Amino acid sequence: MPNIQEIPESLSEWERIAAHSHISGLGLEGLEPKEVGDGMIGQLEARKAAGLVVRLVKDGKFAGRAVLIAGPPGTGKTALAIGIAKELGRDVPFVPIAASEIFSAEIKKTEFLTQTLRKAIGVRVREMRKIYEGEVKELHVDKEPHPYNPYMQTPVRATMKLATKDESRRLTMDQSFALQLLQQGVEVGDIIQIDSDSGRIIKLGRSYEVAEKMPELSSVQVLPTPEGPVLKDKEFVYVLTLHQLDVAHSRSGTSVLSLLFGSRERKEIEPEVRRSVDELVREMVGERRAEIIPGVVFIDECSMLDIETFAFLNRAMEQELSPVIVFATNRGMAQIRGTDHVSPHALPLDLLDRMLIINTRPYTKDEIRKILEIRAKAEKVKLSGDALEYLTGIGEQASLRYAIQLIAPAFELAKEVKSEEIRREHVEEAERLFVDVQRSVRHLKEFEQRFLT
Ligand SMILES: Nc1ncnc2c1ncn2[C@@H]1O[C@H](COP(=O)(O)OP(=O)(O)OP(=O)(O)O)[C@@H](O)[C@H]1O
Ligand SMILES: [Mg+2]
Repeated sequence: MPNIQEIPESLSEWERIAAHSHISGLGLEGLEPKEVGDGMIGQLEARKAAGLVVRLVKDGKFAGRAVLIAGPPGTGKTALAIGIAKELGRDVPFVPIAASEIFSAEIKKTEFLTQTLRKAIGVRVREMRKIYEGEVKELHVDKEPHPYNPYMQTPVRATMKLATKDESRRLTMDQSFALQLLQQGVEVGDIIQIDSDSGRIIKLGRSYEVAEKMPELSSVQVLPTPEGPVLKDKEFVYVLTLHQLDVAHSRSGTSVLSLLFGSRERKEIEPEVRRSVDELVREMVGERRAEIIPGVVFIDECSMLDIETFAFLNRAMEQELSPVIVFATNRGMAQIRGTDHVSPHALPLDLLDRMLIINTRPYTKDEIRKILEIRAKAEKVKLSGDALEYLTGIGEQASLRYAIQLIAPAFELAKEVKSEEIRREHVEEAERLFVDVQRSVRHLKEFEQRFLT
């Protein structure tokens, strides 16, 4: 079967966040966190809690709820969210945004939020299609002179004998099929699939027997000749998001499959379009042709959101089709943006009421050392023993994030002096060149003092 696999937008966006590339899951065995697993170290309770959330989401028992990951800077809140995404797997949509994007997007705030929420609802569509599948035993393409250019031959129709192990059929096809056969270079001995409704031909590979007799130096897949009838009903399954369906319906005439290669432009979508998509999806679910897969929206730095946004999200969560929302913050008591209320995590109380809160705690020295080791490996960099110790100290005193960020420049400095590994002096130099936040603030304070006195 041809394998059309979309890379969900959310995952490709994630891939840009290179600082977490070492994390491939939550590192759990059942629900129990391993000390080290999937690139995750320590933070055991938070990981177990996150694992429970994953399980509830997968079982569809978490709709309309929210999670808040709260903890000091550099304690792995974003890392945990990525772990959740990886555990959910590719079929479950995961849409990460930073709170500040809501304000900088070119479209209205509510439209941006609606699109984000609808990107996080997957629809698994099953479709039975009638297809011809088999090995090409004979192939003739009839050509005629081009009507305007008699020196050029154009294909007008094709005849073919297509066979499985059990039967064979003779097919005649019109010009559009003949053209595809030529374009894809289909030959006798190929195994192909023809979708008669959509008019698509897909070349799957070459048959074993033919490939054995005529070995070729090519990357074409070698396959056994299919069994059973040539014409059959075959099930195709794909996952689309509500947002993709919205986009398809607002561009009339777009087929579902062409969406997988569609553009990424953002524009506003009419409410009627969304209504008719919801209607369509409901109908397909009713007929058991589709299944809803609620996904996850991850909103990082959520204390930056304003009261209007919170109100919108609160309402959205009450709706029938709503993804799970995971918030993350490193703020304790703070003012809710757009009001003069001070509130826990700068979140309104009615929203806090719906939330399960997961705390992350600062790492021990040992944990910091292990995370740095894993990061160095992920960045394909060698750290000498004393460089690792020194960096661990920085991670403890300044922040883990800062220590991790020093690895790359320290490695450049090491390479500059032809050293294969980062030594302590390289880390020290990187630390001098790139200051951490606290030092940077102190630096500016000193100057302010000078101006004042
Ligand atoms: N338990 C962990 N295991 C492995 N790596 C971790 C762990 N926790 C954090 N890290 C890594 O440490 C770095 C800092 O963590 P992260 O960015 O997730 O912290 P944060 O809590 O989101 O910080 P902030 O509040 O500043 O957003 C990242 O590179 C992250 O991948
Ligand atoms: Mg973070």
